[in-house]
Amino acid sequence: MSDWKLESWRAKSALHQPVYPDAVALREVTSQLEELPPLVFAEEIQSLRKDLAKVERGEGFLLQGGDCAESFAEFSQQNLQDTVKVILQMAVTLTYAGSCPVVKMGRVAGQFAKPRSSPVETRNGESLPSYLGDIINGIDFDESSRVPDPQRMLRAYQQSVTSINLLRAMATGGFASLRNIREWNLESVNGTKLAERYGAMTDRIHQALDFMNACGVPMEAFSSLQGTALYTSHEALLLEYEQVMTRQVDGAWYDLSAHCLWVGERTRQEDSAHLELMRGVENPVGVKIGPTATADDCLRISTQLNPDNESGKLIFICRMGAAKTKEVLPALLKAVSDAGRKVIWVCDPMHGNTETAASGYKTRNFDRIMEEVIAFFDAHRNAGTYPGGLHLEMTGRYVTECTGGAYEISDEDLHHCYDTQCDPRLNAGQALEIAYQAADELRRFRQK
Ligand code: PEP
Ligand code: CO
Repeated sequence: MSDWKLESWRAKSALHQPVYPDAVALREVTSQLEELPPLVFAEEIQSLRKDLAKVERGEGFLLQGGDCAESFAEFSQQNLQDTVKVILQMAVTLTYAGSCPVVKMGRVAGQFAKPRSSPVETRNGESLPSYLGDIINGIDFDESSRVPDPQRMLRAYQQSVTSINLLRAMATGGFASLRNIREWNLESVNGTKLAERYGAMTDRIHQALDFMNACGVPMEAFSSLQGTALYTSHEALLLEYEQVMTRQVDGAWYDLSAHCLWVGERTRQEDSAHLELMRGVENPVGVKIGPTATADDCLRISTQLNPDNESGKLIFICRMGAAKTKEVLPALLKAVSDAGRKVIWVCDPMHGNTETAASGYKTRNFDRIMEEVIAFFDAHRNAGTYPGGLHLEMTGRYVTECTGGAYEISDEDLHHCYDTQCDPRLNAGQALEIAYQAADELRRFRQK
């Protein structure tokens, strides 16, 4: 990595960056951030690398989920706790029904910056710069709120600190203990078939724990039953922020804003400044792989980001849409596996299935999402490769943003609870349904 420098990305093409009107104000903020503590530790990043190396070998499964975009206004203990509850419920479902340890990772504590398909938004004939995420500008449709403001980076940092504090408390303070499995139930799912199925599973897990206890094997003997690791991740989009959080520890560079970062579909091009910054850090790095990606793209990115072909380092997050997954993914799996490149393959069944409903809402249909998940598993079964995880936009709250699923949300229902800052999320029930399907697929896969 002798040709990599903390600022070498500046000579490359940095797409989707805000233009700050006041360069001095920007410098003041980045200097302040430079002095502030990191959000995560290098040792935690190394543990994640080890956990992901297991996933890569087919000995685990990565569950990554959370909001499309975090926001300042929607931040609360309740919202975060509800998201963690669904992640824990989904993870225990995958572990129990899929017989597989699960690496849990939130799109959280830093998921604030958004690439937008258009730089301007037009409403009733008036055009303004697009909303780029709370870390950059404001969502209100007025001129002053859409001006990029570097102070927002400090606020995003502070909110991330608070989030990580809560996540750590939930992960290791008893809440995530298997004995509390019933506490993870979400009110919004109560009374549904899913709640019944989940209840039956928790009863069986309780019985197993009681049985072990009676046999003289107390669960206190196993730290993995009493708590868990909850890792954080976000899109490494806003390069000024990522650079200032990238620091040297024992001679190696880490982006200490999160355990894991990913580079989006729109910023992973050949001369990408984003890939350049991520090339120098020890963190595991994800890259979104869309429907137009070629085998050459995959191999090029794998050599750029992981020249030494290390384990637990590179994640390809496929987001092709249900139809293109069947068409395009098989050739990519073959090319990467023939070349002997180490990759963790993850399915993001959200971003390739976005559509505009007749009502005008941006939505995703549950059946298409499920179809992509199934196509992803099928492609791996045929290619002899391993389906390593799921990447979902979801929330623990009852929202009506994706159509279909257990509550049979229709186009006409979308306006009831459409709260997302950006893309439509699965609600808790829809997310659990995906987990059940994935668990069945995973078990079939592992029994093969
Ligand atoms: C996202 O994950 O919210 C996102 C913008 O994804 P993509 O880069 O795959 O479009
Ligand atoms: Co999104």
